[in-house]
Amino acid sequence: MNISVIGTGYVGLVSGTCFAETGNKVTCVDIDAAKVERMQNGYVPIYEPGLELLFERNSRQGRLKFTTDLEGTVKKSDIIFLALPTPPGADGSADLSFVLKVADQISEMIEKYTVIVDKSTVPVGTAEKVEAILARKLSHDLFDVVANPEFLREGAAIDDFLKPDRVVIGTSSDRAREKMRLLYAPFVRQGNPIIFMDQRSAEMTKYASNAYLATRISFMNEIANLCEAVGANVDFVRKGMGSDGRIGKRFLFPGVGYGGSCFPKDVQALSKTAHQAEYDFKILDAVMNVNSIQKKRIIGKIERYFGSDLTGKKIAIWGIAFKPNTDDIREAPALTIMRELLERNAQVSAFDPEAMENARAEFDGHVTFGEDQYEVLDQADALCILTEWSVFRTPDFDQIKSMMKAPVIFDGRNLYDLEPMADIGFYYNSIGRDLVEGKA
Ligand SMILES: NC(=O)c1ccc[n+]([C@@H]2O[C@H](COP(=O)([O-])OP(=O)(O)OC[C@H]3O[C@@H](n4cnc5c(N)ncnc54)[C@H](O)[C@@H]3O)[C@@H](O)[C@H]2O)c1
Repeated sequence: MNISVIGTGYVGLVSGTCFAETGNKVTCVDIDAAKVERMQNGYVPIYEPGLELLFERNSRQGRLKFTTDLEGTVKKSDIIFLALPTPPGADGSADLSFVLKVADQISEMIEKYTVIVDKSTVPVGTAEKVEAILARKLSHDLFDVVANPEFLREGAAIDDFLKPDRVVIGTSSDRAREKMRLLYAPFVRQGNPIIFMDQRSAEMTKYASNAYLATRISFMNEIANLCEAVGANVDFVRKGMGSDGRIGKRFLFPGVGYGGSCFPKDVQALSKTAHQAEYDFKILDAVMNVNSIQKKRIIGKIERYFGSDLTGKKIAIWGIAFKPNTDDIREAPALTIMRELLERNAQVSAFDPEAMENARAEFDGHVTFGEDQYEVLDQADALCILTEWSVFRTPDFDQIKSMMKAPVIFDGRNLYDLEPMADIGFYYNSIGRDLVEGKA
């Protein structure tokens, strides 16, 4: 099939590459001409494990192309995916201007029956809005609009796309359903379902999934905070809870709050949808409040240790990306924490295995960056761990200790066991567990 993907970001590029991998001819369209040129020259603009190999193979074999030419691409497409940004608008609801503008543009370009698939995360009712825009210029037998939300996780996006837990397709058109079934057949050979439903339910499924996962995170963060107050260990509590088949083990890790380009904006947008429907969705508001407090909780711990003026204190940061295996720093808790430290006059020195280029652009000279995780520790007063990259899990503690002014760690990701930290003489303050004040 001839597929076009409009918007070549994390979702568009991964989707396009994976559709090419199953034999389709894919053209990815973007308005960012410099990015398109780099992709045409073989440069993969995001870090995502496994992407480069597929990108290279499918580009070389002519199945994956990049362009800024929307019209030429749309005219030859059987299926058009919209993988456009839906950032929060001024009032917190999803800004649909990118999606609706492209819908308007392509309504003047489509010449034969085409399925338009909304892959962006969009509020309930958006597919109908897109349909209405297309219908202004196009006869109804020339198009169908499908809601096909994307559930990939950054950092595991290729695996998630090639072997999804499920594919959700919202449409009432038999013709579109058949095209989508054919397109996704190679991805569901192991029996993972394609779940067909109406457009509104498909749109809601995406928000419900993200809001539920965010709720689990905020819930566990509160359990962890309570564990600290009553002397329980959240690691044990998590394992005890997660072994219950009704609960499951995933998404029970406490930390410095959720971030990324999806959870914060999607929880907020769902809350806005609820307000617009005059439904008071109390849990969502609590989830957001807990998260914004959790992001700053580690600052409170640092203040209790050093005092609120951090002038002359050097704080080393390990991990800036909102989670491991990505270079994405959008809404990363580390950004909030680093800004709070700078506001208190701390000298901040940071390292992340993949996100440093993005972080440099964000902090514009106010933060120093190290070439590796040890360099930032030189004469540091404390180390703050904010992303659970594997490379931080078994570091050389003797080296850490010898480089820092004092062996002080604030761990926002609970990477280390308490006992060994005590034995090697660290002050070790983690989440939902006893404070360790090791004797050096
Ligand atoms: N990132 C994720 O993990 C993820 C997961 C699931 C769903 N989503 C949803 O998918 C959508 C896209 O997210 P993303 O993270 O890929 O966004 P992104 O910001 O990484 O990429 C969006 C791309 O669209 C391009 N673009 C903007 N306007 C355009 C236009 N008029 N024509 C062509 N290209 C245009 C931008 O230049 C950019 O390259 C959002 O709705 C998001 O909520 C994201």
